[in-house]
Amino acid sequence: MKTKPARVACVVGARPNFMKMAPILEAMAGAPGLEPVLIHTGQHYDREMSKAFFDDLGMPRPQVDLNVGSGPHGRQTGLILERFERILMESPPDLVLVVGDVNSTIACALAAVKLHIGVAHVEAGLRSRNREMAEEINRILTDRISDFLFTTSRAAGENLRAEGIGEEKIHFVGNVMIDTLRRLEPRARRESTILETLGLEGAPYAVLTLHRPELVDDPGSLKALAATLIPLSRKIPVVYPVHPRTRNRLEEFGLMPDLLAAPGIRLLGPRGYLDFLRLLADARLVLTDSGGIQEETTVLGVPCLTLRPETERPVTVLEGTNIVVGLDGRRIMGEVESILAGKGKRGRVPELWDGRAAERIVAVLSRALAAD
Ligand code: UD1
Repeated sequence: MKTKPARVACVVGARPNFMKMAPILEAMAGAPGLEPVLIHTGQHYDREMSKAFFDDLGMPRPQVDLNVGSGPHGRQTGLILERFERILMESPPDLVLVVGDVNSTIACALAAVKLHIGVAHVEAGLRSRNREMAEEINRILTDRISDFLFTTSRAAGENLRAEGIGEEKIHFVGNVMIDTLRRLEPRARRESTILETLGLEGAPYAVLTLHRPELVDDPGSLKALAATLIPLSRKIPVVYPVHPRTRNRLEEFGLMPDLLAAPGIRLLGPRGYLDFLRLLADARLVLTDSGGIQEETTVLGVPCLTLRPETERPVTVLEGTNIVVGLDGRRIMGEVESILAGKGKRGRVPELWDGRAAERIVAVLSRALAAD
């Protein structure tokens, strides 16, 4: 039996990591056998892409910031690998815990496994089967080298078994992103004034998010989508918090003036967690290419149209409110009209998306690491 608590290096890097890590850190704070050390790779660094989330989520400041910033995949991944390796060599933890599927996830998992440090991957087993997505490569590789694979659905576990991953490594625990949503929804409703600021309190509106390079870096796709969006915004106002990558592309492709001129399109900068949750919770519908938002809308019971050819989160389609529509303008308009006519998809909350996933993760790790 260990006398000192096991040190767990908990890695965050990009926006969707923060809301997944917050409940894990909180659950670890109540576990005497575990001592979390929070590492930020600095993949996201703008105030509204990073620090605003630490504030909204009540997360402790990272003990280490690797300050890698933006860059092409190889450079960004390589810088994280090199800088994180140095931290691991100076002060090796007992385990490295990574979440999601961003470049920080695979880079830190790889640095750890090469130094024979165990890896836990939270949100394991998701597969889009589209290898052109950087995230799909990050997911497959991270799962392959992890020792603890925490899944959000039974289907994710099946994906891992089909790839030959041992049963003893797979733990179906539920969804940590939903832990945060459940904890903060009342506060978002109380504290965020975003709807009042936009003059949309009690009014119907849609929310749009776009950031995937497969979509926004392709001028044809982005132009086609803008051409759908403008008539759509005459049917229902569209609130659109713009990701920095997408803002650059909209400007580069000359699409910004038309969007700014459309009275129904409300362009905003990226929002913090509480504002964005309030926007989602009261929306009539959501259009997105994000992964996490497909899950959040399912839990909130808000119809979601996913602007991609496929999803790595089929449970949101099979059980939730998600419909994968791709980029076909007529299909999108048809689904929007049906939602506005009150025929939006309804669903149920998937198994174990109950706000207690982080507790289950910490219980598994406490047992395993205390027994070392
Ligand atoms: C990353 C993740 C993606 C996740 C998304 C959430 C990878 C491969 N992708 O994509 O899975 O869904 O985060 O946002 O890890 N930028 C800023 N400020 C920032 C961060 C980025 O201006 O704080 C701009 C830069 O121009 C940068 C671009 O956004 O080049 C892209 O950032 P990057 O971290 O490479 O990927 P994301 O598109 O944000």
